[in-house]
Amino acid sequence: MDTDTLVLASDSSRGPTWVPEEQYRRLPWDCEGDFIQCIAGLLEGERLNRTTIINSLILQYNYQSYLEIGLGSGCNYQDVRCDDKTGVDPTPPPRHAMTGSIHATTSDEFFAVNERCFDIVFIDGLHHADQVYRDIENSLLWLSEGGIIVCHDMMPVTELQQRVPRETKAWTGDCWRALVRARGNREIEVCVVDTDWGCGLIKPAEQPVFQPKEELAFENFQRCKHAWLNVISVAEFKIRYLLSQN
Ligand SMILES: C[S@@+](CC[C@H](N)C(=O)[O-])C[C@H]1O[C@@H](n2cnc3c(N)ncnc32)[C@H](O)[C@@H]1O
Repeated sequence: MDTDTLVLASDSSRGPTWVPEEQYRRLPWDCEGDFIQCIAGLLEGERLNRTTIINSLILQYNYQSYLEIGLGSGCNYQDVRCDDKTGVDPTPPPRHAMTGSIHATTSDEFFAVNERCFDIVFIDGLHHADQVYRDIENSLLWLSEGGIIVCHDMMPVTELQQRVPRETKAWTGDCWRALVRARGNREIEVCVVDTDWGCGLIKPAEQPVFQPKEELAFENFQRCKHAWLNVISVAEFKIRYLLSQN
C-alpha cells in the first residue's frame, strides 16, 4: 500500500486506525469527524498547545467531564470540547461568556466542598509550587478511574521566569517543583510534553516513586529537567497517547 495516501482515523469501536485517504474523505461519521480532523491535523504537523492536547485526550479516551483550575480570560476553557465542564477561579471571566459550572473561588475552597470526580483536570491556577502540589493531590483524589491530569507551565526557560513572587510578564512560576515533588510521594506516571511552556501529564500508575538526588534549585533543573520531569517531544506524545489503545 502507498503510505502517502493513508490518514489516521478512528471510530469508537476500533480506536485509531490508518485508512486510505479516499475512504477517509467518504466517511459518514459525524461525531467522529472532529476526531479524524484533529488527529489528521496533528499528524500533518499542526502545532500542539495545551488546548489541542486536552481536546485530543478527551476525544481519544472518550472523557466526559472536565475541570479547569484557573481560567484566565477563559480562552482555553471555551475551546475545550466537552459537554460537562467545570471551571474554578477566584476572579472568573464574565459568566455569559462561559458554559458549564463556574465557581468563583480558589481551588482549595472548591476541593473542600467538592463531591464529584472528573475524567480530565487541567491545573493552571496559582503558579506557586505549594499550591500546584495541593492542586495535584486534590485532583488525584477526585480523578475518575482511567482519568488524566494536565498541568501547564512546567518548563520555564529562565530563572527569572519561574521566580516567586512574580517578576516577569511571561511567568511560569515554579510549578515544576510541584511535579517533581509529586513524583517523590506518589505512584504516578508523569511526563511533560515539550510545547506551550511545558504541559505535564499525570496518571495514577504502579510506578516506583522518584527522588532526585540534587536540590530542587533552578540551576539543577536546567541540567536535570529531562530526568526530573520525563520530558517528551510532541511526536512522542502523539505516539504514546494518541496512537496507543491504553
Ligand atoms: C494563567 S491564568 C489561567 C489561564 C487559562 N487556564 C488558560 O489556559 O488560558 C491563571 C488563573 O489562575 C487564577 N488563580 C489564581 N489563584 C488561584 C487559586 N488559588 N485557585 C484557582 N485559580 C486561581 C487567576 O485568577 C488566573 O485567572
